[in-house]
Amino acid sequence: MLGEVLGEVLGEVIDEVIDEVLGEVIDEVIDMAVVPGELNFRRMVDIHCHILPETDDGAKTLDESVAMCRAAAEEGIVTIVATPHMFNGVHPPPSRATILEKIEQVKVASGNCVEIVPGGEVRYSYEIFQEAEDPQGRIRLNGTSYMLLEFPFQSVPPNIEMTIFQILNAGITPVIAHPERNKQIQEKPKIIADLVDRGAFAQLDSGSLTKSFGPEAYVTAKRIVEAGLAHFMATDAHHQDRRRPVLSAAAAIAADWGGVEYARAMVEENPAALLKDRPIPWQLECDHDALLGKKRKRSWFFFWK
Ligand SMILES: [Fe+2]
Repeated sequence: MLGEVLGEVLGEVIDEVIDEVLGEVIDEVIDMAVVPGELNFRRMVDIHCHILPETDDGAKTLDESVAMCRAAAEEGIVTIVATPHMFNGVHPPPSRATILEKIEQVKVASGNCVEIVPGGEVRYSYEIFQEAEDPQGRIRLNGTSYMLLEFPFQSVPPNIEMTIFQILNAGITPVIAHPERNKQIQEKPKIIADLVDRGAFAQLDSGSLTKSFGPEAYVTAKRIVEAGLAHFMATDAHHQDRRRPVLSAAAAIAADWGGVEYARAMVEENPAALLKDRPIPWQLECDHDALLGKKRKRSWFFFWK
């Protein structure tokens, strides 16, 4: 009897030591394996970018749009979805014709160094339903069934779960823009798990991973990645010199947190499928412990098998 108890206690101690020691070694191996700048992501698609000139608070001039295109192309971004603000109460929403006209201007001026397709960043508002059948299709990303949906930064709209249901019923699949920057989701990350569970997707801003939006956005982005709930990462670029159209540094960080293939899905595979109006191929089951910031218990048997 005493032997059994001793064996059990000793077994637990040995397990903890193995977890602790091997966990640190594994972390170091992963850190060494992923070097920022060395990931070979050359087919990236940026589904959130304020690249159109004189449209919202993004590019101010055509020259700035061209500079952003060139910076994106150098990064390995091959396609940009132009997503001017829609219904945010500050900038008048551009018509579909205006968006297409400005895209053409930027393409010509930049020598077609990157593909640009139409879209919008749609603020949560009643206009979503007014525009759901809109032949302009300006609330949809590249004319697909996907829509980039932005919440206010301080809160999540009340009854959002019902609204997501109604949006899906209208034939639109919402992609939640930068949930990690929303104060209420920072305080209660389970909100994003519930929305994903109901059929929405999540898009992180690359600047959140590179600490451009403060520690809360960084920590929440890390938890969303580790929980398996990050479906897209986009630049949300506004300018050439700050909030630039860059993804690779953040993709390297995402790879460090969740693996290279997961990071590739966020910047290449999932957005490519979105643009073709196909189902999103890379979807993971939510790891609720990781979402709450609890350190995941590693099993070295699992790691090596
Ligand atoms: Fe944006």
